[in-house]
Amino acid sequence: MKSYTLKVQEIRTETDDTVTLCFKQPGLKKIKYLAGQYLTLQFRISGRRYIRPYSFSSTPLIDSTLDVTIKRVPGGVVSNYINDTVKVDDVIEVQEPLGDFVFKSDESIRSVIFWGVGSGITPLFSMIKDLLVNNSLNIHLVYGNKSNSSVIFKEKLEELKMTYSDRFQVHSFYSKEEFFIEDSHNYRGRINADFVEKLLQDIQSPSQHFICGPIGLKNTIKESLTKLGQSLDNVFSEDFEIVKNPEDFKDIYNREILLNFQGFDNKITINKGNSILEEALETGIELPYSCQTGNCSTCKGIVLSGELKMIGLEKPRTDLANNEYLLCCSYPLTDNVSIKIQ
Ligand SMILES: Cc1cc2nc3c(=O)[nH]c(=O)nc-3n(C[C@H](O)[C@H](O)[C@H](O)COP(=O)(O)OP(=O)(O)OC[C@H]3O[C@@H](n4cnc5c(N)ncnc54)[C@H](O)[C@@H]3O)c2cc1C
Ligand code: FES
Repeated sequence: MKSYTLKVQEIRTETDDTVTLCFKQPGLKKIKYLAGQYLTLQFRISGRRYIRPYSFSSTPLIDSTLDVTIKRVPGGVVSNYINDTVKVDDVIEVQEPLGDFVFKSDESIRSVIFWGVGSGITPLFSMIKDLLVNNSLNIHLVYGNKSNSSVIFKEKLEELKMTYSDRFQVHSFYSKEEFFIEDSHNYRGRINADFVEKLLQDIQSPSQHFICGPIGLKNTIKESLTKLGQSLDNVFSEDFEIVKNPEDFKDIYNREILLNFQGFDNKITINKGNSILEEALETGIELPYSCQTGNCSTCKGIVLSGELKMIGLEKPRTDLANNEYLLCCSYPLTDNVSIKIQ
């Protein structure tokens, strides 16, 4: 995978707990990406390497810098490091843009609905700017936040609403805000099934849906579409974190495995609940990885013996051969597991 070093040109404070890093594009060979894709940032913090993907909040051909927007996660290593420590002129190592959470060009589509909560706005914001400037589709953004002050890109969304008032609507939900006027576009509470169904009935279909939020939101949207007899083929989602269901771990126990990486055999214990990637990184083995959600394939390993189980994959991965496993989502099922990383 290609990697680059990028210089931080500007840091914008978006809210109390969120910043945008604006990277200068390299002078000679510009980094190409699609609205909705992500950039993987690499840091060395207290001697350990950390790799984290962040969706672009900038839009190709519209924004001159490469922007990623990072919200603090309580106790999170990298999100807090970025918010506290990274400064203008720092040089950061990044991997080439990845991701398939992008608009699918389709002449039959009449509207596009973006559904987001909190920092889930980042890839949606990149795509919304792209479609408003380069397309004529009707666009709706349904955006849930705790309060008015936690809304990321608030002013920029207001500007877009004014500029494209004929075809861009924002529906805002506030789960913990006391002071705001409830009206036909501002609601109290979380994004709920009644609202979703009403909006789906009101908009021009067929439509494409892009969701970046919790699993509950995704399920509500899919259930509402099914109830209204609409297809789920045009529903796309991006997960910032893998959802681990305890039920899936019933047959997983602590096991020792053999991991061959860069020509060396490493014996490591995989404790119940931790993926092979997580445990290898804990042990100081710097395996390649990016998304940690079973999407990008950077962490692929070849199983030489024993059995593994993949847990938490959102989309089926028919592209993997029988002996290929994504180690960020893999757990040993037997005692004799031996894996080679190529
Ligand atoms: C494709 C993709 C795009 C992403 N884009 C963005 C983005 O644009 N902006 C952004 O702020 N983040 C984004 N993320 C999440 C980001 O990559 C990190 O996971 C996040 O910043 C937490 O990293 P950390 O090192 O601070 O936390 P860690 O030290 O890795 O985790 C600390 C604890 O927080 C939990 N945790 C991890 N991630 C999250 C999360 N997102 N929400 C709540 N709890 C979490 C972990 O389970 C753990 O218990 C994206 C993730 C993916 C997979
Ligand atoms: S790190 Fe992306 S699939 Fe495992």
